[in-house]
Order: sequence, then C-alpha cells, then structure tokens
Amino acid sequence: MASLSSKTALLVFFALVCSLHCNSVVSSVDFEVGQTKGWVVPASNESEIYNTWASKNRFQIGDSVHFKYEKDSVMLVTETEYKHCNTTHPFFFSNNGNTVYTFDRWGLFYFISGVSGHCERGQRMIIKVLALDDGSSGGDGTSGGVPASRVSSAFVFLVVVLSPVVGSFVF
Ligand SMILES: *[C@@H]1O[C@H](CO)[C@@H](O)[C@H](O)[C@H]1NC(C)=O
Ligand SMILES: *[C@@H]1O[C@H](CO)[C@@H](O)[C@H](O)[C@H]1NC(C)=O
Repeated sequence: MASLSSKTALLVFFALVCSLHCNSVVSSVDFEVGQTKGWVVPASNESEIYNTWASKNRFQIGDSVHFKYEKDSVMLVTETEYKHCNTTHPFFFSNNGNTVYTFDRWGLFYFISGVSGHCERGQRMIIKVLALDDGSSGGDGTSGGVPASRVSSAFVFLVVVLSPVVGSFVF
C-alpha cells in the first residue's frame, strides 16, 4: 500500500494536470434554457424563473444558450426594450423552435419572447457573459456556480482516481 504503481501515479498526474487546466481546455458549454420545460411562459408564481436560473450559471464567451419552444420566438433586444417588452426592433430574432445563440462578446444580453404578452408574463431573461475566459478567477461575486458540465470530467476523474489513494493513507 505504501508505494503507488506507476499506472496509478500516471493517472494521478493527469488528474492533477486536468484539475488545473481543464477549465480552459473544456470546450464551450451549451446551456439548455428552461431545462425540461424549455422556453415557455412561466407559471404566475415563477415569473423570475429564467433570471433566477441565469444568475446561477457562469456564462463565458463562446458558450451558447439553447431555446426550445413551440409557437413562440426568441429576440435579443436592448435593456430599455427588455424593460418595456418592446418587440419592434430586435437585434436578433428567431422563431424556428430550436434556437441556439452563441455569445460573441462579454456583457449583458437581454432576451425576450416576441409573442404578444409573453414577455410581460416573465418569458424574458438577462444573461451576463463574463469578461474573462478564465473559470478559475472568481472575481465577479455575483454568480452562484459553475455549470456541472464544465467541472464534471475533471472532478469525477479526481475523485475516482484519488479516493483509493487517499484511502490507503488514511486507513
Ligand atoms: C408554483 O405553483 C405550482 C402549482 O401551482 C407549484 O407546484 C410550484 O411549486 C410553485 N412554485 C413556487 C416557486 O412556489
Ligand atoms: C420600441 O423601441 C423602438 C426603438 O427601439 C422605439 O422607436 C419605439 O418607440 C418603442 N416603442 C414603445 C412602445 O416603447
């Protein structure tokens, strides 16, 4: 138990390297808006559901948001248009039911539904895309966490590989 096999040592080495660098290596994340329900008018008691979700995730340049919906649409508008649910001059419009929008800059993105009355009922969302492409710098203090898909491979690998090693020292 005292000496690690070379194979284990190699795995540990890769796990450590990965834990340091995987965030920047892992390709962009495609976020599913509304998870299983998709892009729909929220229930009246959940009108902030999209902004609550957005505030719990970290969005970076190159990541995308994926909207799935029926008989609806996705618009990207200015802050003022967002506040007033003004659908007359969107920068971006899609109504094909399966919209992927990829963030090409940092800053705030204001999404609304283009269907009359939907935005007013909460089908709208503000997404903050972080300026730094470095997941490890936790400077912004506003977002709650990293999406599971971004850390999972490195983390699971670390736990699986290291737990028997740690265990052999502890016990
Ligand atoms: C909203 O209401 C539905 C049923 O009317 C309930 O299942 C759901 O948990 C409620 N959501 C919140 C956030 O209170
Ligand atoms: C909606 O926005 C456009 C330009 O963005 C503006 O010209 C128009 O007056 C706005 N309409 C309303 C009802 O606010």
